[in-house]
Amino acid sequence: MDDLKKYIDENHDRYLEELFELIRIPSVSSKEDHKEHMYKAAEWVKDKLLKDGADKAEVLETQGHPVVYGEKMLNPDWPTVLVYGHYDVQPAEPFDLWKSPPFEPEIRDGKIFARGANDDKGQMFMHFKSFEYLLKTNQMTCNVKFMIEGEEEIGSPSLGKFCEDNKEKLQADVILVSDTSMIGPDTPSITTGLRGLAYMEVEVTGPGHDLHSGLYGGAVDNPVNVLCEMIASLRDENNHITIPGFYDDVLELSDEERADMARAPFDLEAFKKEINIEEVAGEKGYSTMERTGIRPSLDVNGIWGGYTEKGAKTILPSKAHAKISMRLVPHQKHKKIEQLFIKHFESMAPKSVKVKAEFLHGGEGYVSPTDTVAYQAASKAFETTYGIKPIPVRSGGSIPIISLFENVLGIKSILMGFGLDSDAIHSPNENYSLNQFRKGLETIPYFYKYFAEMKARK
Ligand code: BES
Ligand code: MN
Ligand code: MN
Repeated sequence: MDDLKKYIDENHDRYLEELFELIRIPSVSSKEDHKEHMYKAAEWVKDKLLKDGADKAEVLETQGHPVVYGEKMLNPDWPTVLVYGHYDVQPAEPFDLWKSPPFEPEIRDGKIFARGANDDKGQMFMHFKSFEYLLKTNQMTCNVKFMIEGEEEIGSPSLGKFCEDNKEKLQADVILVSDTSMIGPDTPSITTGLRGLAYMEVEVTGPGHDLHSGLYGGAVDNPVNVLCEMIASLRDENNHITIPGFYDDVLELSDEERADMARAPFDLEAFKKEINIEEVAGEKGYSTMERTGIRPSLDVNGIWGGYTEKGAKTILPSKAHAKISMRLVPHQKHKKIEQLFIKHFESMAPKSVKVKAEFLHGGEGYVSPTDTVAYQAASKAFETTYGIKPIPVRSGGSIPIISLFENVLGIKSILMGFGLDSDAIHSPNENYSLNQFRKGLETIPYFYKYFAEMKARK
């Protein structure tokens, strides 16, 4: 692949123009009124795959947003790689915190700023261009399939059924995904773990309507006060989650495994500086890396109720709400955790209020073995580009569909992400560094090369 760098140099401007077209489509999956944009993005992906060399590409209906499927079947004796990515993005709000409009990509300081610049449009696009390069230069050594969905950011509600219904079509030797991060620009890593997720919404109701806080305050329980107390009690002084049974299935790591993990470079001072905090916090007895990588967590994502407009209004509100998510680790099952949460939340509510807790979405975590051909091929690809072996790391993030792929399709995934944790994904000013983009373009083609070579030797 001596011509790879030259090919990227010669086509880089076009690559960016193409990627920017996709980014300009505001394919926010959680918004009801964005259906048209979802189809537009799906069609764009389909057209791109065909143009890049797929024999077949189609926009397939699901109960929700469409899935784009594409393939290039070159030789039945070659291994097949299924590339997964998502064309949907998170909402861009709050708009006023963006330095440039979220759906008008702009390059500043060597980074692309836009919603989806990294997650996952920018990362997924590196795969389209690696595919293009390998086909145009006659160096593709695998069959390739693409499954690009439009509902990842809302928990992939339709993809499970899509996989069930398309088992044959999706058969592959490995699923290749770039939707995670690496440790740092010069420290390549392969994500070997993802956390699961159980996302809940709760409602606390006190009096039947808002009350005058002078006439009733002090004599009637206030649902906002009650909700705050209930939430506060979900963690103890050691930042242990207090839901009975919550830790029952948590897989504890051996001292050896923990020592192994601690060898991955991590700069606590840089971590704090990046997010503007003086001190970290978390479960007693665990390091920051462990707190996100191998331990579960519970967070309030949003809380509302009562009067929140300008000025003062003296009321005792009727209702309070919160969105609460729990990140889960291997062996914890999200369905069980949801049940434990609901039971606990209902049981701890005082008689003075009524509570409702419902589940919004969830999924299991994932652990990837490092002794597979696919992992070795990915490792060697990184080594070729960076000159050093990538470090296996467990990420705190979630891509719930990855465990489903294993359960429904029986295929393991390789998480070959090129994002950086500082890319502000899901936040205002999301960005993706051109350097990381380039590194991805330089590395991914080698995965195909080594995967085919190593498979043939087996
Ligand atoms: N790409 C992210 C997940 C991610 C990012 C994993 C960085 C590891 C490192 C994905 O798009 C995402 O945001 N997932 C959601 C879960 C989903 C069910 C909404 C998440 O982790 O919150
Ligand atoms: Mn993503
Ligand atoms: Mn995301």
